[in-house]
Amino acid sequence: MEVLKVQGLKVWFPVRKGLLDVLLGRQEFVRAVDGVSFNVSRGETFCLVGESGCGKTTTARAIMMLIDRGDVRGGKVLFKPREEVLSEIKKLQPSAIVDSGYVDVLATRGQANKLIRREIQLIFQDPFGSINPRMRVYDVVEEPLIIHGIGSREEREEAVAKALEAVKLSASDFMYRFPHQLSGGQRQRVAIARTLVLNPSLLLADEPVSMLDVSIRAEILQVLDELKKTRGMSVIFITHDIALARYICDRIGVMYLGKIVEIARADEIVENPKHPYTKALISAVPDVVPENRKVLRNVPIKGEVPSAVRIPVGCRFRPRCVAFDENPGIQEKCRKEEPGLLRVGEEHYSACWLN
Ligand SMILES: Nc1ncnc2c1ncn2[C@@H]1O[C@H](COP(=O)(O)OP(=O)(O)O)[C@@H](O)[C@H]1O
Ligand SMILES: [Mg+2]
Repeated sequence: MEVLKVQGLKVWFPVRKGLLDVLLGRQEFVRAVDGVSFNVSRGETFCLVGESGCGKTTTARAIMMLIDRGDVRGGKVLFKPREEVLSEIKKLQPSAIVDSGYVDVLATRGQANKLIRREIQLIFQDPFGSINPRMRVYDVVEEPLIIHGIGSREEREEAVAKALEAVKLSASDFMYRFPHQLSGGQRQRVAIARTLVLNPSLLLADEPVSMLDVSIRAEILQVLDELKKTRGMSVIFITHDIALARYICDRIGVMYLGKIVEIARADEIVENPKHPYTKALISAVPDVVPENRKVLRNVPIKGEVPSAVRIPVGCRFRPRCVAFDENPGIQEKCRKEEPGLLRVGEEHYSACWLN
């Protein structure tokens, strides 16, 4: 059963206008997220993978309702909260409930919105920036409970101790320390404990290990994996590293310039990629290229990522696509028509006319 359904999400930021634009009545947009759809099942870890600037963080921020509503230019985020939260929202804002128990997240207001913010949590990339340096570990982890008015003092104490334990920090050792007395890995674990204390159904982790030393990455990933298993939490894991994605995710969505261009089970996408962009991404990481797939080595890619303000017409990957050059028969179509996600196998979709 799906816990989250993202449908045709669009986030466009207006570009600041120059005098000439004003005079000509022109308004351009950074099309950061340009029609993104995917589902996440209960207990699943879904990965969004792609180069820097392809819209991963903006997608996460939109799901978290951290984007100005005015900048969301289309699409829906449907979320199925736990039963008690759902019935609470039914009372608070019945209009936000859509078919069969999903909440239209971006339509929620007031208290209903606050309840959703409890159910969906985000871990940031930067364990230093996301923790208030003046607060002790105990207060950092307790704060979300206070904000959401949860529990008595004793209940909160117990919840904090449990959350610290879940991320493998001994409560008695760490509770009274300040963030500067912690290592990077410990700080990221405190940040994770802070989200766990609310017992969310869905956790978004935006490059949670990319700023950590390699030696402590495994430790954080292990903590996340255990949480997923013991709590049945769903996770959206964001990374630019497809090798890492394969290692920790059930399914992967590859993003390019604001769109998901390929989506499949993690093993399938790495061993049998269909989209020319995915092939190039994988061929750049020799470690993940399967031995018997020599054809995947050194798949070239041309030029640089175009600006998200001027997205190519037709297939947005076309200007960088080597397969396009090699297939004159299909070029007209690639130039004119944008391919949607087409089914290329079991649970495997690719947005390419050549598939
Ligand atoms: N608040 C914003 N205003 C304008 N442009 C933005 C804003 N946030 C992100 N962008 C642009 O949107 C695109 C996608 O950014 P982002 O979602 O951060 O990508 P990623 O996380 O994949 O690196 C980039 O071109 C980025 O410069
Ligand atoms: Mg990002």
